[in-house]
Amino acid sequence: MDKNRVYVFDTTLRDGEQVPGCQLTTVEKIIVAKKLEALGVDIIEAGFPISSPGDFQSVVEISKAVTEPVICALTRANTTDIDAAAEALRFAKRKRIHTGIGSSDIHIKHKFNSTREQIVERAFAAVKYARKFTDDVEFFAEDAGRADNAFLAQMIEAVIAAGATTVNIPDTNGYCLPDQYGAKIKYLTEHVSNIDKAIISVHCHNDLGLATANTIAGVMNGARQVECTINGIGERAGNTSLEEVAMILKTHHGLGYHTNINSKGIYEISTLVEKMMRMPVQANKAIVGRNAFAHSSGIHQDGVLKHRENYEILNPEDVGINSNAIILTARSGRHALKHHLERLGYKMDKINLDEVYQRFLEMADNKKEINDADLLQLMGDGDSKN
Ligand code: KIV
Ligand code: ZN
Repeated sequence: MDKNRVYVFDTTLRDGEQVPGCQLTTVEKIIVAKKLEALGVDIIEAGFPISSPGDFQSVVEISKAVTEPVICALTRANTTDIDAAAEALRFAKRKRIHTGIGSSDIHIKHKFNSTREQIVERAFAAVKYARKFTDDVEFFAEDAGRADNAFLAQMIEAVIAAGATTVNIPDTNGYCLPDQYGAKIKYLTEHVSNIDKAIISVHCHNDLGLATANTIAGVMNGARQVECTINGIGERAGNTSLEEVAMILKTHHGLGYHTNINSKGIYEISTLVEKMMRMPVQANKAIVGRNAFAHSSGIHQDGVLKHRENYEILNPEDVGINSNAIILTARSGRHALKHHLERLGYKMDKINLDEVYQRFLEMADNKKEINDADLLQLMGDGDSKN
């Protein structure tokens, strides 16, 4: 087994799709699932079958349409949910049941009105029951971010003994700091006696803007599965974004971790999910935002044109973005203007750059951003090409 392989578990169609306004039809979900397959995702969480007939049917149809990744369905820790998941997954070539229950004292007391002992018994029983349908059972310890580490270790040891092959340690409320979350994962590797029989999974929410940082801290402390969504969509402030984790591990390849993600497909699936789920990506979003590679200050544009690595740690082509999409503004310099005019076919030895640059500044003062159509207008029909 490759110790540094990080498995990517995508939950865009389950945790992401729970967001009000983001609901997809079954046909749309199949389109997204096929793109996730092409992207190289290892596990697709296709839905929560007991939650609605539509979700159930989507899991059935995705199981038929997508064959490469493992198809996963979510359940609570009860036999009715697990039966529905097993039924919905019946056509999947490789199937996973993802069952679980709360692990923090807050959830145990105020959500389940129960005790730690009873909760561990329910967790154990749910995993044992799910194993009747598949050898691939993942257990989630909801709100593990706020759970007592010693109790969490006890619970995780019990579910692995019951047959869980992946153990998910969610920071359900996005509460942890990276140091705390990393230490929690490390604690489990050191205090769960049978931990070598399961893969530790990290599932982080972004309430404090730390989902990606916590996910990476988890990996660096022993987790080998990351749970993410495209564009980081998800309830409230969202989940860990797949593209950020994939590109962090790729950029910092010296750490030794690797995934199966074909990064060149990232931008395409990002725009697909953005449109289908009606959830606009913020312009300055890392990796896939409109401005993620757009250097607008003159100093930066000049530096990038001289040598890309001056101001870019990522190559836009690596995520499937056309690198020519640099925005020109009133702060752009002559070098950037010349570069774009040449790109559009203008022969600069026949052009007075100083004169064109003055006209460009006047135009840029009136418009926030100058695109190719504006440049063509600036140059007019005259003397410029050939
Ligand atoms: O955030 C969470 O705890 C979850 C679980 C259902 C895995 O989404
Ligand atoms: Zn979640």
